Amino acid sequence: MKVLVVGNGGREHALAWKLLRSQQIEQVVCVPGNGGTASMERCRNLPLSVDDFEGIGRFALEQGISLVVIGPELPLSLGITDHLQRQGVMVFGPTRAGAQIEASKAWAKALMREAGIPTAQAAVFTEATAAKSYVAAQGAPIVVKADGLAAGKGVTVAATVEEALSAIEAIFQGQFGSAGKFVLIEECLTGQEASVLALTDGVTIRPLLPAQDHKRIGEGDTGENTGGMGAYAPAPIVPPALMIRIEQEVLQPAIATLRARGIDYRGVLYAGLMITPDGNFKVLEFNCRFGDPETQAILPLLETPLEDLMLACAQQRLSEMPLIAWKAGAAACVVAAAKGYPGAYQKGQVITGIEQAEALGAGVFQAGTKLIEAIGEEPLAPSLVTDGGRVLGVTGIGETFEQAIALAYAAISQIQFKGMYYRRDIGYRVRSAVNFKL
Ligand code: AMP
Ligand code: GLY
Repeated sequence: MKVLVVGNGGREHALAWKLLRSQQIEQVVCVPGNGGTASMERCRNLPLSVDDFEGIGRFALEQGISLVVIGPELPLSLGITDHLQRQGVMVFGPTRAGAQIEASKAWAKALMREAGIPTAQAAVFTEATAAKSYVAAQGAPIVVKADGLAAGKGVTVAATVEEALSAIEAIFQGQFGSAGKFVLIEECLTGQEASVLALTDGVTIRPLLPAQDHKRIGEGDTGENTGGMGAYAPAPIVPPALMIRIEQEVLQPAIATLRARGIDYRGVLYAGLMITPDGNFKVLEFNCRFGDPETQAILPLLETPLEDLMLACAQQRLSEMPLIAWKAGAAACVVAAAKGYPGAYQKGQVITGIEQAEALGAGVFQAGTKLIEAIGEEPLAPSLVTDGGRVLGVTGIGETFEQAIALAYAAISQIQFKGMYYRRDIGYRVRSAVNFKL
């Protein structure tokens, strides 16, 4: 099989890496990929943009690609799956209609209400004055969300009414463009967040191991929100009994309600949950794709060939597959970012030490990196440089969480680039529960 993976993050490096572990996979092509996907055997990058649907479709047909796997939400929300399916290409990822579950928070909220899925109370507004008076009446803390895709920056958890009012102002003044046509004002939930991802073929659901991400830039979950600074799986905050409830009370009703709306949803359904202190849960958001960096902690534990599962989703025969098999133990991923991220940061810093990190037994999943092999026509000794905010993630796996996290930190300490930053406290909730120090 030849598989094409769309995207250029750590998630896509992990997807390509996992696919290539299988003897069935002859080649993986990444569009556009990164320095990590450029460096793997049987893997190559194709320099097309993720929204060049024509180009991707033409390439898939010409090269006999068996499956196209879509990483990011943007091309899904623009209808890449619909486009490729029309051309007869097999795709893993929902159609444009299905991707609304991530691309419009108001749409997702209405779906959750219809499906009876537990979620925070919310009101939707189309203009600032009504939104502001609602906030003034509700008081703080309160959560303000831009409706559409805003690269993880559209949500403000406001500690004060003033903060909420300025978030509303910013959204309606166009800070997020058309993503800010509607505003959701939501009840502020407390508890621990967890990510429950499931594979689905539109009828059957197969949950993956639960994971926990660390969204803030600073240790102790302080500072600005990021794409995610580290993750581990399985997350003990979601024990098996809770997973069963989440499957029955969140994932199955979501898929059934999508079907009732005529949406045949095939791909990943990702529920971002708040586990409340009483052990219950509410859905914070749905995503229509794999999480990043959750994927870098989940896939190394997967035993069942990923391509078999993805093809079964694309062909709607997931019910015929045996249950997903997992390695025992745990995995933890620590993300290294460029200095300044999630604000402005420099690119082009030379990265060293990846081979040494891998020699310890860790997996290094590259994100914002670029392999430079020539300047113009002039070949150079290949050098790997930073090319984004989240630069790479290092995953350790082990029989226990403690072994996994210790390996991830031992390995990441082998890697250097100028301005490299990573949180030292990934998994701190588990560490404090087992009284574990690195
Ligand atoms: P979302 O993109 O909707 O998941 O929101 C991004 C982040 O904002 C979440 O991961 C939470 O940390 C936080 N958040 C979203 N909704 C709420 C809520 N209702 N209460 C508290 N925190 C929230
Ligand atoms: N790690 C959060 C996300 O992928 O949305």
